Amino acid sequence: MQKQTIKDIKSLNGKRVLVRCDFNVPVDGDKITDDIRIVEALPTIKFLKDAGAKVILCSHFGRPKDGPDPVFSLAPVAKNLTKHLGQEVSLAPDCIGEAVASLVSKMNNGDVLLLENVRFYKEETKNDPEFSKKLASVADIYVNDAFGSAHRAHSSTEGVTRYLPAYAGFLIEKELEYFGKALTNPKRPFVAIIGGAKVSSKITVLKHLLDKVDMLLIGGGMSYTFFKAQGHSVGKSICEPDFIDTAKEIVEYAKQKKVAIHFADDIVVGDDYSADANSQIVPFDAIPDGWEGLDIGPKTIKKFEEIIKTAGTVIWNGPVGVFEMDKFAGGTNAIAKALAASPAITIIGGGDSAAAIKKVGLEDKMDHISTGGGASLELLEGKVLPGIAALLD
Ligand code: 3PG
Repeated sequence: MQKQTIKDIKSLNGKRVLVRCDFNVPVDGDKITDDIRIVEALPTIKFLKDAGAKVILCSHFGRPKDGPDPVFSLAPVAKNLTKHLGQEVSLAPDCIGEAVASLVSKMNNGDVLLLENVRFYKEETKNDPEFSKKLASVADIYVNDAFGSAHRAHSSTEGVTRYLPAYAGFLIEKELEYFGKALTNPKRPFVAIIGGAKVSSKITVLKHLLDKVDMLLIGGGMSYTFFKAQGHSVGKSICEPDFIDTAKEIVEYAKQKKVAIHFADDIVVGDDYSADANSQIVPFDAIPDGWEGLDIGPKTIKKFEEIIKTAGTVIWNGPVGVFEMDKFAGGTNAIAKALAASPAITIIGGGDSAAAIKKVGLEDKMDHISTGGGASLELLEGKVLPGIAALLD
């Protein structure tokens, strides 16, 4: 999808630019525990302010239910931005209305203002046209750099584009470049590693990827529905009986498409879903009653490592074990290390896989770690993201 970016804007000097970012960052109280989404928004913000624009940032933060709530204030983000940019980023008390209009009217070229949480209005998620119009009314140009929210058709991501010329920021451009290249013209062999707990949440991804990849590695909780579909006993492993037919269809489709699909050969099972459970390694088709699969075993790790070594491109979405518990993190950690050592182009979906990479401190070794969990998943499903579709072609 070719979209106009901020580099295509003719003149920025003195222009009021409304920039939608995804500042939905994890916090502990008012302390931001991971500011990567803010850091990744900086190139766009700096470009705009250096070009003399008046930069008006907006974002959602969390899912407030009943209007303004200090718990969901973007105040910690304003502080973090001030530190990163080395200039004061003040927080407006609202995202629309008189107070915002007045603050914007006082902005100098190069100033940066952060509006308060757009989800303090229920109209935001309803993509209410009047609310979109109000948001747009303080700006001349709109820039969307909120990749993590691009799958939402909300006022600040989609509605606002009906009232302002709308461009992509550098982060959206970068995310689309990596995913776009992998999905249309990948360096081959193209390998996808898909994990996570449920087949039901990954059906569309698996089917879409089978049209694209050369090899598909499946791990994590979803494997047990596949094993059950092959007639094996899975003990008390997570399993979705309603999706056994779907699992069979996926394996059949892989055969048709001549895509090699690899599952675990051995499994680390636990006698309880807990960090101090007893554990043992068993063949994938011999999970004892009363035990549950919680990680891939050492033989599987070796097999997956060998495949990763030969890949030209790897996309990874979803952990292959319960990586939050050290005892069952071995498989996921080994995949992260194999990707770090691989010469392949490595693309990590946001959410849990990104968290797993961070846990072992290998972020810098990946080509691209997406800032959007839900958004990257929808891209891998082949869906059009409304926040991107709405931008100027
Ligand atoms: C995310 O963290 O995945 C995005 O910011 C989207 O948030 P949402 O799921 O609340 O829309």
